[in-house]
Amino acid sequence: MRLQGKVAVVTGARQGIGQAAALALAGEGADLVLASRNIGTGDAVVRDIQQMGRRVLVRRMDVGRRQEVQQLFADTLETFGRVDVLFNNAGVSLPAMLWKMTEEQWDEVIRVNLTGTFFCLQAAAKPMMEQKSGSIINVTSSAGLLGTIGQVNYTAAKGGVHALTKSAAKELARYNVRVNTIAPMAETEMTRTIATDPRFRDKYLERIPLGRFARPEEIGPAVVFLAAGDSAYITGQTICVDGGMVML
Ligand SMILES: NC(=O)c1ccc[n+]([C@@H]2O[C@H](COP(=O)([O-])OP(=O)(O)OC[C@H]3O[C@@H](n4cnc5c(N)ncnc54)[C@H](OP(=O)(O)O)[C@@H]3O)[C@@H](O)[C@H]2O)c1
Repeated sequence: MRLQGKVAVVTGARQGIGQAAALALAGEGADLVLASRNIGTGDAVVRDIQQMGRRVLVRRMDVGRRQEVQQLFADTLETFGRVDVLFNNAGVSLPAMLWKMTEEQWDEVIRVNLTGTFFCLQAAAKPMMEQKSGSIINVTSSAGLLGTIGQVNYTAAKGGVHALTKSAAKELARYNVRVNTIAPMAETEMTRTIATDPRFRDKYLERIPLGRFARPEEIGPAVVFLAAGDSAYITGQTICVDGGMVML
């Protein structure tokens, strides 16, 4: 197992890509810290990981609140004594056309997706720098890389994540801490409308060369790859796990 003895923090672990990635990381031997606003110890993802024999810490928190992020990492270090992997995954989308977007929609998406990513990155980096090892995996999007219609808030946030990943990778490389990004495309709560509503579905499928949306479980292996030693010489990169939608 590629992550035996490692400790991985997954934000947005309650459902979707975060849940699938947490299961994939646990499947490779990692102990898990599962965080989101509404996650609970009774959730299936917690039970499934415990049944694999891994240790699990569950924390309800909001990645856009700095004190809650700091508490999450303090609890992680108190429980496990280290943090090896951060899957910096929590995100929200509040779509609206540019001319209709409210300040609240703009602020909330930037707060969670961009500021939340920064808070978690910063909090994870400190113990990783002391350990002289660690892997941080951020989440961007085709919207952040190429632009899209109806989501300037999300595009700005995910474009920011793509950019900050490269600066963080440069700053942290000297401590043997790697920072990469994935750009996924999978059918989840977030993409339910575009994946099911015929008005959007067909347009999206035309843009995906492999011709289908992924299941969230198909994103997990890329997260494991970036978390594990297999990718020891890779930092500052974006891996698109999106059926070929974005070709960098
Ligand atoms: N699905 C796609 O095709 C796609 C494409 C590109 C990028 N992404 C990105 O991939 C990531 C996961 O998306 P998904 O599709 O799995 O979405 P999802 O099914 O909506 O899951 C989002 C997760 O984030 C958590 N979350 C939301 N706001 C939070 C906050 N403020 N603090 C902590 N946790 C929070 C949610 O749990 P709670 O409600 O319990 O907080 C949930 O577990 C996001 O960053 C998204 O932008 C997804």
